[in-house]
Amino acid sequence: MDSKSFRENAHQIIDWIADYMDGVKDYPVRAQVKPGEVRGQLPAMPPVGPESFEAVMQDFQSIIMPGVTHWQHPRFFAYFPANVHPASHLAEMLISALGINAMLWETSPAATELEEAMMDWLKTMLLLPSEWSGVIQDTASSATFCAVLAARERATGWQVNETGLGDAPKLAFYTSAEAHSSLEKAVKMAGLGKASIRLVATDADHAMQPKALAAMMEEDRKAGIIPALVMATVGSTSVGAADPLKAIGVIARANKAYFHVDAAWAGSAMICPEFRHLLDGVESADSFVFNPHKWMGVQFDCSAHFVRDKDTLVRTLTILPAYLETREGTTVTDYRDWGVQLGRRMRALKLWFVIRLQGVEGLQAMIRNHVAWIEDLAAVVRDADDFELVTGPNLSLISFRYCPIGCEAEEADILTERLLTAVNDDGFTYLTRTVVDGRPVIRFQAGQVNTCRDDVIAAWDRVVALAADLPQA
Ligand SMILES: Cc1ncc(COP(=O)(O)O)c(C=O)c1O
Repeated sequence: MDSKSFRENAHQIIDWIADYMDGVKDYPVRAQVKPGEVRGQLPAMPPVGPESFEAVMQDFQSIIMPGVTHWQHPRFFAYFPANVHPASHLAEMLISALGINAMLWETSPAATELEEAMMDWLKTMLLLPSEWSGVIQDTASSATFCAVLAARERATGWQVNETGLGDAPKLAFYTSAEAHSSLEKAVKMAGLGKASIRLVATDADHAMQPKALAAMMEEDRKAGIIPALVMATVGSTSVGAADPLKAIGVIARANKAYFHVDAAWAGSAMICPEFRHLLDGVESADSFVFNPHKWMGVQFDCSAHFVRDKDTLVRTLTILPAYLETREGTTVTDYRDWGVQLGRRMRALKLWFVIRLQGVEGLQAMIRNHVAWIEDLAAVVRDADDFELVTGPNLSLISFRYCPIGCEAEEADILTERLLTAVNDDGFTYLTRTVVDGRPVIRFQAGQVNTCRDDVIAAWDRVVALAADLPQA
């Protein structure tokens, strides 16, 4: 494809994207295809010769699009969002054109230095300690994996990296049952086994109980097990609970455990002074992660990972084969040793575009709106005779169940599950199931850049209408 054909094809794609931005609200939010339906339409063999751009676009429209779940839909209230602000879109196009691998300063100085500058901007926006260092990871899962590895090495005097787990002392990793599953995955990947995870009891608000944490650590110490890491959560996945960082930090420090804070979703809201108290105590953390790709309009993937002591992280992950040595040596930042990947995308450009084209105030306004609309919705659910508000509002997240007057718990659980299936099959909106205190509930969170108050109201009205049509349990 020469640059002339590229230009023509690219113009068509830009038109397609702009039309999609205008028309995304008319698609069912969740793809309505059956398993295998997309695959069944794809030829088993690749084409031997080149096909036309028109043929590929036609198949994209007819085969791929029906199998797409629309994360940019204004009535996407499921999971946590993966936002695409148009400014981020524009940056992603440039990133794609440059095709940079930002593994070393030398392999693209601008990528590295922009990343350092953007991490400093985020520190300022979230009021994080100025002495911290930052890196952009692909996902929060990767940041948590790095934290587990750094904790493992710090607790064992960097011996596991040298000689493996064979003679290593037993380590323990603490978090609450509310924490994201990425900690379990990280501990397993680090070769430490699920049995080394301790799930600390939570209180009525689903927040970790510091006293229970201290007691568990003491018990482990008595048994000769080293407390290696504590992971606290601000904005848990199921219900948006926030652990008390101050108290947890004191206990982690007293036990010399690595303190990691996961605010993958809620972190973005910390740019609003009125929510920042949820991060009080974060200054005692060894590492902190949040995903601008969840709630700051920067499209997937962009996970901001901060560390108190970059040397601990880099020492844990460092490798230096001859072909990666550069004449600048340690006088510059080589992000190759700050994460799992060697090759790295130029993600900082998305942050730069979004923050500059929106301004901090623009981002704050978006987040405040989401929170306000969900607070209003929570009041509606609380007042509804046939629904129960189960948790929240925690920032822009609530959970509820469907329990028509007079119905027992078991019946309400069945109806709640049926309602969720009906809502997601209907396609007008998209919600997520979770379990709270052993019972199924429906989560509703607002965070999509395209969402308006009317979308929240319309989605709720549809939930109520579909509930009314449900067969009884
Ligand atoms: C609290 C929390 N932590 C971590 C993650 C994992 O995020 P990622 O997909 O960036 O690994 C999620 C995902 O929703 C989350 O809610």
